[in-house]
Amino acid sequence: MKQGRIAPANAEWIAEAGQMIRSGALVAFPTETVYGLGADATNGEAVARVFEAKGRPAFNPLIVHVLGLEQALIIGEFSPVARRLAEAFWPGPLTLVVPRTAKSDVSDLVSAGLPTVALRSPDHPVARALLSEAQRPLAAPSANRSGHVSATHAEHVAADLGDKAALILDAGPTSHGLESAVVSLVGETPVLLRPGAVTVEAIEEVLGGRLTRDSEASSSKPVSPGQLLSHYAPRAGLRLNAYEWGADEAVLAFGSVAEKPARVFINLSPSGDLVEAAANLFAALRTLDASGAPTIAATPIPKHGLGEAINDRLKRAAAPRD
Ligand code: TXA
Ligand code: MG
Repeated sequence: MKQGRIAPANAEWIAEAGQMIRSGALVAFPTETVYGLGADATNGEAVARVFEAKGRPAFNPLIVHVLGLEQALIIGEFSPVARRLAEAFWPGPLTLVVPRTAKSDVSDLVSAGLPTVALRSPDHPVARALLSEAQRPLAAPSANRSGHVSATHAEHVAADLGDKAALILDAGPTSHGLESAVVSLVGETPVLLRPGAVTVEAIEEVLGGRLTRDSEASSSKPVSPGQLLSHYAPRAGLRLNAYEWGADEAVLAFGSVAEKPARVFINLSPSGDLVEAAANLFAALRTLDASGAPTIAATPIPKHGLGEAINDRLKRAAAPRD
């Protein structure tokens, strides 16, 4: 099949799209807010290709789309307040950031290494039909290149992402044209991380109180797009661009690096594939850190393509912290 083809969002094409998602391909689809670029959220390499397609120089956490609360409960821990918000606004344009469950099989890359996950149940019939056909939670950011405006027409997706999506399901313009509101339920009080298609007033009515704005949530800060430094940082120190290492160090290798004695040695991609490396990155960092090694030595990783985001993440993990 021709890549990047725009197809009418009818039953046949949605069934085909579901197959494509299960095989690891990317499919752009309409939601009630904007078009999303969808991937099987449980497939790390598919998720890595989403970042590649968007041309993001860094890993921002993505929204996971589900049919409803039942599916969401497998992936995220819902407090009574989180549950109340989901029951009031789902399906619809409200995204809830909650702690991940231990049993969640969503890729670490979706959350960019955070212990939390953003979940939303879309209201658009095509998005729902695709979720049913794919039988997978869908990681889907807005279907635009990084830094561009969100796409509200299938033609905008095609213009922005070209052949990066295997298929673009066209159901005409989206109705809201504005992304979902994002509310974090990770801290003690709910915090608005992104205003969006559900109004603050409507959310406050369900909460029965005022919703804290991101800018006000100073000390117990939840993570929002501009604050990615507070991302998971390993306990161990991190040495970048290492060519040699000690036997007590944990090693994060890439490509044709020869394995030499180390406390733990993980090669992100022996074949030098950056998509595979991105898919393995966060799980590898956790495993290396859990070894108890005082330092993690990371061998050089190319800076092109997804290598830029991988290097960005490693630089943040290596930065001095307080
Ligand atoms: O309307 C929408 O929400 C669209 C459609 C396609 O559903 N999606 C969308 O996704 O706008 P995206 O990836 O462009 O925006 C995701 C937002 C970002 O602001 C991101 O930082 C935040 O959600 N986010 C995702 N996971 C998070 C997490 N674990 N913690 C904090 N913020 C998170
Ligand atoms: Mg976006």
